[in-house]
Amino acid sequence: SQHSDALREEIKSLLIQKDAVLVAHYYTDDEIQSLAEESGGVIADSLEMARFGANHKASTLVVAGVKFMGETSKILSPDKTVIMPTLEATCSLDIGCPADEFSAFCDQYPDRKVVVYANTSAAVKARADWVVTSSIALQVVEYLSEQGEKIIWGPDKHLGGYIQKQTGADMILWDGACIVHEEFKAQGILDLKKVHPDAAILVHPESPDSVVEIADVVGSTSQLLNASKEMSNSTFIVATDRGIFYKMRQASPEKTFIEAPTAGSGASCRSCAHCPWMSLNSLELLRDALKYGADEIHVEEEVSCKALIPLQRMLDFQV
Ligand code: 13P
Ligand code: SF4
Repeated sequence: SQHSDALREEIKSLLIQKDAVLVAHYYTDDEIQSLAEESGGVIADSLEMARFGANHKASTLVVAGVKFMGETSKILSPDKTVIMPTLEATCSLDIGCPADEFSAFCDQYPDRKVVVYANTSAAVKARADWVVTSSIALQVVEYLSEQGEKIIWGPDKHLGGYIQKQTGADMILWDGACIVHEEFKAQGILDLKKVHPDAAILVHPESPDSVVEIADVVGSTSQLLNASKEMSNSTFIVATDRGIFYKMRQASPEKTFIEAPTAGSGASCRSCAHCPWMSLNSLELLRDALKYGADEIHVEEEVSCKALIPLQRMLDFQV
């Protein structure tokens, strides 16, 4: 519409004026992702967002995603201004892992390395030895396990369980989950597969064990996107936030992408696989953040310095 065209133009000129770059996650709405593309920003998974923001020369990072992504960017670049369309955009994994409780949990196992998922608060990262995202979690735990380390893993129990199974590492898991991925149902996916026998099943590892088990590919958002490009299948059943379809369809317009069902009610189920917090990122709020600088990320210095250590380990880890 004319209104959104004007808004997009306004945002693009504000980005230039404020020496800012837009860093968007694959789960944000199409209009945010396309704006990131058009304005010289990036659409990325959470690890690539962290790297891109840290390496970019812009003095302001506009992070369109959820709060932990903004915090990670700020910790890696304390001298940059980091703003978000809204600081209300959180994550069920972050909510389900309060720093004081997690720290007390870790205190019970002083002989274990603490490995936390990036989907956590800065304070939880400050308590960790390692931070990982879904794209390198498996490799980092494998490496630690080979060194003879025992591990505390938090907060996603599904990703943790998957890694434990794959690596055989000695892990104690925190009890957290992603409310979006936890809803995918293996039976519904198998029913869909009967209708589309040649479909490949792509699964994000925050999904339940039963869903991961029937996957052809398990991986982070970027890894799933790559698989959708490289595999020759004409149809894909995708168990992750449907925001990823923007890039999948753009890369492979000839292929068919189907949302994995979120209830066991059969092939017709097309429930909404979309993160409620990611969808808070609107063009209006993005414009306001740039214009008024309201939703700026601040991380307390002591926490930031502590959290930087495991975050930097993640960035330095060579897969
Ligand atoms: P990625 O690291 O795959 O981008 O995942 C982040 C996330 O929030 C998944 O729900
Ligand atoms: Fe958190 Fe799940 Fe939303 Fe990702 S999709 S931000 S893990 S609630």
